[in-house]
Amino acid sequence: MSFKIVNVVGARPNFVKIAPLLDAYRIDPRIEPILIHTGQHYDHIMSEVFFQDLGIPVPDYNLGVGSGSHVEQIAKIMLAFEPLMNDLKPQCILVVGDVNSTVACAMVGCKLGIPVAHVESGLRSGDRSMPEEINRIITDSISDLLFCTENSAMENLRREGVDPVRFFFVGNVMIDSLMKNISKAEESAILQKLSLEPRSYILLTLHRPSNVDNDAVLNRLLDTVEIIARDTPVIFPVHPRTLKKLQGRQIDGLRTIEPLGYLDFLKLMAGSKIVLTDSGSVQEESLILKTKCLTLRDNTERPITVEMGSNRVVGTREADILLACKEALARDYSFRVPPLWDGNASKRITRILVRHFLGD
Ligand code: UD1
Repeated sequence: MSFKIVNVVGARPNFVKIAPLLDAYRIDPRIEPILIHTGQHYDHIMSEVFFQDLGIPVPDYNLGVGSGSHVEQIAKIMLAFEPLMNDLKPQCILVVGDVNSTVACAMVGCKLGIPVAHVESGLRSGDRSMPEEINRIITDSISDLLFCTENSAMENLRREGVDPVRFFFVGNVMIDSLMKNISKAEESAILQKLSLEPRSYILLTLHRPSNVDNDAVLNRLLDTVEIIARDTPVIFPVHPRTLKKLQGRQIDGLRTIEPLGYLDFLKLMAGSKIVLTDSGSVQEESLILKTKCLTLRDNTERPITVEMGSNRVVGTREADILLACKEALARDYSFRVPPLWDGNASKRITRILVRHFLGD
């Protein structure tokens, strides 16, 4: 008996999450994984370089949907994914994270009666204006197996009335990837390439629509970072969404660079004094890399990073960011590692899938 499982990736963080699962599936020869790329991210630097860095095989199918409004993107993915599922008839569709590809493919699985497994389930920011929050709520409410990275996620699912037999505390696949690749990342020459000494600079990432699509907020954040950059160099790999907004804007003291591949970015983050970010994954990765993280948002769906001491949620107001930055530069943080963030989440997920679908 074999177990055919479709694995969906679409956007940058998905690639990092799926790589260790594809590795872990090798422990059982009955597992027949199929990899489907929706094409949500398509630039070499947003997609292909991650396949190379992480050794992910070329996807079996690429739906090539590309960019568009969120509704258009989700609709296009669903229209392309449904006939493929009718042909492939998998026993399970596995989706990761909270991007548009995640929710689109989960909805197709649900409509076709194919069980859906969601990895990184239950995270909630409590902010429904965040597109990812809606994606998380919908995906979790229609998934059959829900895999959680932290206790707060399970509490959220319980509160939403999800039957506890459906969710599992497994750890964090993003951290599986980090632990597997950290020694390779150490060899990256990105610091030399950018002429940077370790712990001499601050790293900045910004791409959340609430921060970059709103001119007033973006300008406020950039003005603030300009002040920080007067004392400590700030390196800013610019996401394509943000780049569109920056056209023509002069940013004094900020060193903007192209987005980086996975290994170069890990090395740059590990070497920075502080990371200023609105990314979810960066909040988690910085904890393991022992780099202090200041989250430029009003909330986080990953409260464990705050609880473990590596992350402060500082909002987007100038005075708050400057104060938090000053404080972070002045003192040491204590870093504790969350339970089960040990590099083995993918193996746990694989064992649960095998038990569920093959009965042993
Ligand atoms: C998506 C995810 C977000 C994740 C982020 C990581 C959703 C709702 N959001 O946001 O959770 O943190 O990916 O990067 O799914 N673009 C390119 N090249 C590409 C891809 C996109 O230039 O390869 C540009 C396009 O102009 C596009 C814009 O970036 O309109 C935004 O891309 P999109 O896929 O809509 O979402 P992200 O902002 O990347």
